Amino acid sequence: MCGIAGYIGKNEASEFLMDALKRLEYRGYDSAGVAVLDKNGEINCVKSVGKINALEKKLKEKNLSGRSGIAHTRWATHGHPSEKNAHPHCDCEGDIYIAHNGIIENYKALKSKLIQAGHKFKSETDTEVITHLIESHFQGNLEQAVLNALKHTEGAYAIAVISKNDPGKIIIAKKSSPLIIGIGENEYFIASDPSATVGYTDKVIYLDDGELGIITKDGYKIISIIDSNEIHKDHCKVDLDVSEVQKGGYDHFLLKEIFEGPEVVKNSIRGRIIPDEGLVKLGGLDVLDQKKLRNINRIIIIACGTASYAGLVGEYMLEEYAGIPVEVELGSEFRYRKPIIDERTAVMAVSQSGETADTLASLLEAKRKGALTLGIVNVVGSAIARETDAGVYNHAGSEISVASTKAFISQMTVFALLTVYFGRTRNMSLTMGKRITEEIQKIPSLIEKVLESDGQIKILAKKYSGYKNFLFLGRKYNYPIAKEGALKLKEIAYYIHAEGYAGGEMKHGPIAMIDENFPCFFIVPNDSVYEKMWSNMEEVKARNGKIIAIATEGNEDIKDLADDVIYVPKTLEMLTPILTAIPLHLFAAYVGIELGCDIDQPRNLAKSVTVE
Ligand code: F6R
Repeated sequence: MCGIAGYIGKNEASEFLMDALKRLEYRGYDSAGVAVLDKNGEINCVKSVGKINALEKKLKEKNLSGRSGIAHTRWATHGHPSEKNAHPHCDCEGDIYIAHNGIIENYKALKSKLIQAGHKFKSETDTEVITHLIESHFQGNLEQAVLNALKHTEGAYAIAVISKNDPGKIIIAKKSSPLIIGIGENEYFIASDPSATVGYTDKVIYLDDGELGIITKDGYKIISIIDSNEIHKDHCKVDLDVSEVQKGGYDHFLLKEIFEGPEVVKNSIRGRIIPDEGLVKLGGLDVLDQKKLRNINRIIIIACGTASYAGLVGEYMLEEYAGIPVEVELGSEFRYRKPIIDERTAVMAVSQSGETADTLASLLEAKRKGALTLGIVNVVGSAIARETDAGVYNHAGSEISVASTKAFISQMTVFALLTVYFGRTRNMSLTMGKRITEEIQKIPSLIEKVLESDGQIKILAKKYSGYKNFLFLGRKYNYPIAKEGALKLKEIAYYIHAEGYAGGEMKHGPIAMIDENFPCFFIVPNDSVYEKMWSNMEEVKARNGKIIAIATEGNEDIKDLADDVIYVPKTLEMLTPILTAIPLHLFAAYVGIELGCDIDQPRNLAKSVTVE
């Protein structure tokens, strides 16, 4: 949430800064700004409301020249999107500029003290208090002023600060929100995540909480915010390709990422299956004491949004085939509950970004309570990946579109792998292990078949895009897919309201809404609950509801009840959600396009929810 960038070195700062903002735009896109120190020692700042291309247009009129600068793309928390509230923010004199990601929780108290001391505020943001705090502590040395200012703040921050009175350096600091330094040849890049530095450098340092960096064109120094002691950190090599952050011939990242489904599953399972032995090898978990893993008698999955639906699918898989009791908790709830955890409980965080504040906070709480912490994370080196005792990377590649699709597919795939991994050290037979792993390996080609329905789904999107409400129903493994289908539709085609329900729950309330204007998606592959779902379809039909069914290939009977049918190939019941999710992702994308929505960056949203 919010992206920040910085540059210092031999080239024009605004080139990298604008590139970085475009790459980080998924983190927030209601306003943006850039501030550059010019050769006369003045800081020039340009801000704009709306997307980065609006800022780019403005910059063409006002060329910002200089070799160091900072930039920001905003997702509003305090104060509505406006130029006045857009970052970078400056102090009273326009000497110090700051870009900030996070929330300063005690900003109100700080602001009134600063106002009493004569500081003039120009915005409604929490961020501006940091600038004035730095100003009030500034005595010629920027890092010292930042260190002193941060001692007064509570909350989360990743900041980049420049000052015309201590030029030639950028000061950065981190607590809870992500920040990296990219190391180039006589140039340094600062960004919220490494996607911004792809193509500039693959050498990256991840700042940890409580660290402050002093970056000049000749080098960097990292010190502790608490005691100012120097911290020596090694850089890591980031394995990202420029093609991952480009649309690759598609008009939208969202469509590109949905169509990457087969490749995503291949990457998630590559080298992890031993077919003859019906076994799964997960390097990230093999590092743990195997006795400890075998001792786990309960798993609590923590996640938010779409990742939590993958967790629900995982719950059903792990309970049915590995025999381990599993609960799924939303990060935002878990962190404020008093969960009962003992040394045999594993708490497993599921997160694409590895940054989600609620999931991370829950994980840290579980760690404090002595749980073994595990993760299913896509972004390598992210906070959640670093905080867990062990985990499994998705290897889904960069997910740029704000709505999570390919990561969801990959999270369910990893849960299938985990089911075999845990199951085979418990009661799962060799035959069952082989059966599941054989079927997992077929998933990429089965997804390719699902994607062949693309044309039909586009037509259906046109047909149904005029409806204002939708109900999504599924049962057992496909109950979470009903939730996911509804979430995606309301998120991507944001003029439509949708609800996702368990089929059996329909008559406990939602059936009241059904009439000819309320289409229902039924996710009804041939599985153990098919007959039950059939009864639910009859109930909707009896009330003149329109039915769109996602059914197994060859099921002709379904046409008796459904107005439209999208077929998916047959697979094991536990793997059906990986296939049934895809038509729903495509449907949401095409309805969004029909309605003129920005499907990559839907309104009000941002990827990586790094605030509570
Ligand atoms: C929905 C979506 C969100 C995320 C949620 C968790 O399409 O993308 O619901 O799934 O914000 O994000 P991560 O997985 O990064 O923790």
